[in-house]
Formats: sequence, structure tokens, C-alpha cells
Amino acid sequence: MIKLAIDLGSCVTKIYRADASNGIVLAEPSCVAVAGEEHEVRAIGKDAKKLIGKTTEWTNIVYPVYEGRIVDKRLAAAMLKEFLSRVGLGSALKRAETVFSVPCGIDNGQLSDYMDLAEECGLKKAHFIEAPYLAALGAGVSFAEEKPVFCIDIGGGVTNVAAVSSGGMIAGLSMNIGGNNMDANILEKLAKTRGLNIGFLTAERIKNEIGSLSPNARGTTVAEGSSATTYLPASVSVQAFEIADCVRVYIDKVLEYSLLVLNKLPAEVAADIHQSGIYLSGGVMKLPFLAEYISKKLEMSAHICEEPHFAVAHGGGVALRDKKLLTKISRALPD
Ligand SMILES: Nc1ncnc2c1ncn2[C@@H]1O[C@H](COP(=O)(O)OP(=O)(O)OP(=O)(O)O)[C@@H](O)[C@H]1O
Ligand SMILES: [Mg+2]
Repeated sequence: MIKLAIDLGSCVTKIYRADASNGIVLAEPSCVAVAGEEHEVRAIGKDAKKLIGKTTEWTNIVYPVYEGRIVDKRLAAAMLKEFLSRVGLGSALKRAETVFSVPCGIDNGQLSDYMDLAEECGLKKAHFIEAPYLAALGAGVSFAEEKPVFCIDIGGGVTNVAAVSSGGMIAGLSMNIGGNNMDANILEKLAKTRGLNIGFLTAERIKNEIGSLSPNARGTTVAEGSSATTYLPASVSVQAFEIADCVRVYIDKVLEYSLLVLNKLPAEVAADIHQSGIYLSGGVMKLPFLAEYISKKLEMSAHICEEPHFAVAHGGGVALRDKKLLTKISRALPD
């Protein structure tokens, strides 16, 4: 039977196949380009992302699932249907078993939106699992024992911080902090200090190329945009130290909230977590020296998997291959 784990991220949708062929089969921007009053769909995924900042006033870019919530049901269904067709499983999809990642602490109303989405896309056998469980599984945690683990996932729009065990969520919180905030910060800083207006795609590229948590980061890149004074096309060379703060302020916020969660843990849970360390996931964890920075600030060892941006989708695959675990950690469905 075809088994798929679906992570509808704020920035990137990932689909992982957990049957015969194990692996990521799709990773595309979670956006749709729409035009006109009726919001007619013009482009989906990578084709839509290319248009960001370059569209006419009649075309908008919409992220139909944002910060874990389905904000536009019609476009979310159009997007997921298209992605599933790009995966190329055809009519076999009807019999697929799927796991959807859903936000930590999702209420029944929002969960119903996910159930409707699965049904609309013809996915009859769908399970819904809260993201921190999947992030932990994908980051290498085995829930074989009841031992709690602590995980931090920093994505494009959301950060989840949670202490979880297979028995349930012990403590956790979800905050609207992610790579997008860092990109916006870089964009503002270059306008202010270098007189260069750049777009969000350029800001994201700069973060991904030279963002770092190392005090000695030395990278350089070229930022292209338009002059804030002459409005003519222009470019400047940007050095890593110039944008280091734009990234670090948000990491420090995440750490502040992580401490709040850690400080509330019962002593026995804290003891277990201190022993096992912190499990890190999410695309932002690709920033150089971030794991070391977090480990130092929280005074614990930190584990980061090879592809932290795929951890949630990989975790869905782990759950799909372990029926007992799948039943245990799936959300009970509202009637
Ligand atoms: N090399 C990199 N360095 C820093 N950040 C990166 C890198 N590669 C990707 N990112 C950032 O990771 C973020 C996307 O991560 P991820 O795919 O985990 O988010 P998401 O699952 O789509 O969103 P969310 O979980 O917040 O709903 C984006 O902000 C992206 O710019
Ligand atoms: Mg995510």
C-alpha cells in the first residue's frame, strides 16, 4: 500500500513516501499565484514562488496553509491536489495511507479543516499527528521507551518548542517566529544602512548564503535590488557580520521561550532531558553554528539531523511504518 507523509509547511510542502521507495518525493514552495477578482489559480509551487515580487497588480501570491493553519480551503486543496499529481501516483493514491503534520495543540475546528482537505484530495485513510512528535521522530528520537525528549523546530513561519514522550505532550509552545522574520529583518536593514531596496527572495537568499551564528562568520554575497535614493537598479556587497544580528535576535527569542518551557518541567522530566539533550529540526537549523549556539545557551547537548528541513516529513514516514506508534500518537478525530 502507498504510504505518504505530508508536511504542509508555511514555506515548503514536503511529501515523503514510506512504502516501497523510502524518501522525499516532493519539496515545493507552499504557494499559489492567483489572478483577478475570482482568485483564479495561475501557478502553483515553484512556478508561483518565482513570481514573488515580480507580479502585476492583478496577480497575488497566496500561502493557503500558514503557520500550520489552513487559511484558504479552496487554494489549499488546489495546491495539494497539484502536488499529489506531480508525485505521479495516479489512481493508486485513493488507497494511500497518509500522515499529515498538524500544529501542536490544534483545536477540533482546525483539525476538521485538515480532514476536509484530505477528503477533498481523495486521501481516505488519513492520520493527523502534532508536529513536535514528527519532528522528534525525524530527528532520530526513538519513542520505544516512555522517556521524554525536548525538541525545537524552527521553520519559515513557526517555531515549536516541546517536551514530548510517547505518552503525550508534557509541555510546549508554538510561536510565530521563523526564517521569514529574519528575511524581513535583513530587507529592512539593507534599506536603512546601505540604501538598497531588495525583495524577499533576495533577503532569503542572503540569509541562507551568509547567515551564521558564529561570531567569526566571514561570508560575503552580492545583494541586488534598487537604490533607495535614485530608484535605479543597484547592487551592494554584503558581509556576514552586517546581517548577523538580523538572524540572532529571533534565535534569542526562541531561546527565551525555550527556557520558559524548560523551567516549568517536573524535576524527573528535566533530568531525562538533560541526559538525552535537545533535538533540533526545521530549515532554519541549517544556519551554521546554530546547534552549537543553542547547546551553549541552554547548557545541554544538541542533536541535529542531516536534513533538518525534512525531519517532520521523515518523522511521518517513521510513524507510518510503525502501526502501534501511529495509533498511539495520532490525534483522535472529532465526530
Ligand atoms: N541554508 C539555510 N540557512 C538558513 N535558513 C534556511 C536554509 N535553507 C532553508 N532555510 C530556511 O528555512 C525555512 C524553511 O524551513 P522549513 O521547510 O522547515 O519551514 P516550513 O516547514 O515550510 O514552515 P513552518 O514549519 O514554519 O510552517 C525558510 O525560512 C528558509 O529560508
Ligand atoms: Mg515546518
